[in-house]
Amino acid sequence: MFQFDDAISSFRLSGEPYLGFLGALHTHLAPRSYLEVGTESGASLAVASCDSIAVDPRFVLQTSATGNRKRTFFFQMPSDEFFASEDVPGLLGRPVDFAFLDGMHRFEFLLRDLIGAEAAGHPRSLILLHDCLPLNPRMALRQFVPGGRSEGHNAQSWTGDVWKLLPILRKYRPDLRIHVLDCPPTGLVAITRTDPASRVLADRYYEIVDEHAESVLDEKQLQSFWEDLNLTPSRPLCAEPDRLTALFSLH
Ligand SMILES: C[S@@+](CC[C@H](N)C(=O)[O-])C[C@H]1O[C@@H](n2cnc3c(N)ncnc32)[C@H](O)[C@@H]1O
Repeated sequence: MFQFDDAISSFRLSGEPYLGFLGALHTHLAPRSYLEVGTESGASLAVASCDSIAVDPRFVLQTSATGNRKRTFFFQMPSDEFFASEDVPGLLGRPVDFAFLDGMHRFEFLLRDLIGAEAAGHPRSLILLHDCLPLNPRMALRQFVPGGRSEGHNAQSWTGDVWKLLPILRKYRPDLRIHVLDCPPTGLVAITRTDPASRVLADRYYEIVDEHAESVLDEKQLQSFWEDLNLTPSRPLCAEPDRLTALFSLH
């Protein structure tokens, strides 16, 4: 599921790569509505086959981001503006079945995206958070700092501090069911048993931000962060779709 690579002083995940896992979710769960925050080239949007919304302040679409879908709504704006101005279930004709949150890599942004996505869904929605497993302390910083040569292809990777969502959700939302998947490069956090009516994160937003603004992961803290993850192996779920649907069924 994961190992620590001494040569580059980084953790490494060995499950199904995240785009393959996203594709398996679309194929086997058959969501009817999809919301994506952070689209960039369209690689993750391309694997969605249902009515979709994509939000990004700067699209740089390079793949066939519209796939085989009939309806795709593109919102070229920051997600805060999107959630403040748009009626998401109204656009899609139903609440969001499946959301993938991969926008700004700072924890308060992801927290707001989660609040917006959960409110637009239903109790059987699936919300995926990307990049919550930093592989080394540099990647986990709030500012992007490129890695040295010893980091090889990871040198340009930046997860930012969205890893803070895990301790935040454990403390403030024990009602959610959370699986942390071992999908390279930097993990997927799958959230189910959502509650669109919950006000906890919105009402305690400033308290949460104050509590976590200053925290960082040094090497020792990163080690215990990884030891506490209780990772769910993704490859067996892709190989046996019945297990995937049993864990994440949307309907
Ligand atoms: C890592 S990329 C997304 C990659 C894409 N999901 C994929 O898997 O191929 C992150 C994207 O988030 C976008 N982003 C940055 N700030 C944002 C914000 N406030 N709201 C929505 N998207 C944002 C960036 O423009 C960038 O395109």
